[in-house]
Amino acid sequence: MYRSLVYPILARIEPERAHGLALKSLRAAQATPGGLVLLRCFAGPRDPRLEVKAFGQTFANPVGAAAGMDKNADAVGALLALGFGHVEVGTVTPRPQPGNNRPRVWRLPEAAALLNALGFPSKGAAAVAKRLDGKRFKGIVGINLGKNKDTPPEKAAEDYVAVFEKLRDGAKYAVVNVSSPNTPGLRALQSRSALAGIVKALAAVNTPKLPILVKLSPDLDEAQLDEALAGSMDGGASGFIVSNTTLDRSSLAEKFPERPGGLSGAPLKARALKLVGDVRRRLGAAVPIIGVGGIATAGDVIDRMKAGATLVQVYTGFVYGGPGLIGQIARGLLEFVEREKLASIADIVGSATP
Ligand SMILES: Cc1cc2nc3c(=O)[nH]c(=O)nc-3n(C[C@H](O)[C@H](O)[C@H](O)COP(=O)(O)O)c2cc1C
Repeated sequence: MYRSLVYPILARIEPERAHGLALKSLRAAQATPGGLVLLRCFAGPRDPRLEVKAFGQTFANPVGAAAGMDKNADAVGALLALGFGHVEVGTVTPRPQPGNNRPRVWRLPEAAALLNALGFPSKGAAAVAKRLDGKRFKGIVGINLGKNKDTPPEKAAEDYVAVFEKLRDGAKYAVVNVSSPNTPGLRALQSRSALAGIVKALAAVNTPKLPILVKLSPDLDEAQLDEALAGSMDGGASGFIVSNTTLDRSSLAEKFPERPGGLSGAPLKARALKLVGDVRRRLGAAVPIIGVGGIATAGDVIDRMKAGATLVQVYTGFVYGGPGLIGQIARGLLEFVEREKLASIADIVGSATP
């Protein structure tokens, strides 16, 4: 119904406005008595075999909402009710900032992809903290930390620490985002020394300990990947999110040179999948990976977990698939678990990466 009735209407509206409307509706639903119960009709089965233990937490299922979907924690309760096992809020910057000029999000429906050059529009850490603090959500909330555009790179660690300290009480894990392509100079923070500096600065204020993950770019070459992993591990990172959007448009038939920004969705899938295996091979099973990029079906989730992802996230697939997508994926995962007679979906993690 979403694909034939709702999406065609949303597709006529400018993408960022459509996203804003969707968030507003979810926010209204979660504020209405009975609203969350209604949204839960979209969610899939809850089953202990879909639960995943990671970072000292139990996730109801492996599929989370990727950063960017709910930057300011408008609709966390509603997204969890739709069946996501976790929601990663953000990216949040210390001070509010508007992001880049519009238009800055474009749909590529034929490619099941999006282009975005948002540049961290954020209400700022204090405003987001008010929406998370003291709330008891039915699911896991993560926070994705960013820096303000006008903060120079040598002071970046201070920004990550500032957001972390404001938001940590409302979250179960935190993510250092050094891989968005839309903030000038941000990706350079994936160097060994810069990343080690940021993660160490967070570790210094991280009591009681919250897992700190690093979100990587899919555009790193082998040497840069080694550096980013080494810097993160030097600093004491607990895991990785693989990956952010790509600047590589070689897989697109039409390149849209007039539209800046990162590509997400189906064209990113093969690259993000390979990178999960690359990270797993380098770091082994002890360092958890959250796989993200082009996931839209239960089969995609299974492939990503077999490659080495303990958990996965979805953004673009949800835009095209609609509110029933996560329930559909959960049903597919449960069928798989039953067919394969698995005690837990977590049993497949890393099985395709020696
Ligand atoms: C419109 C849009 C905004 C995004 N904003 C953020 C963000 O603020 N922080 C971040 O770490 N990733 C952000 N991302 C990247 C996603 O979290 C994800 O890594 C990427 O889109 C790949 O997943 P997908 O193919 O399922 O969309 C954004 C993606 C899109 C499409």
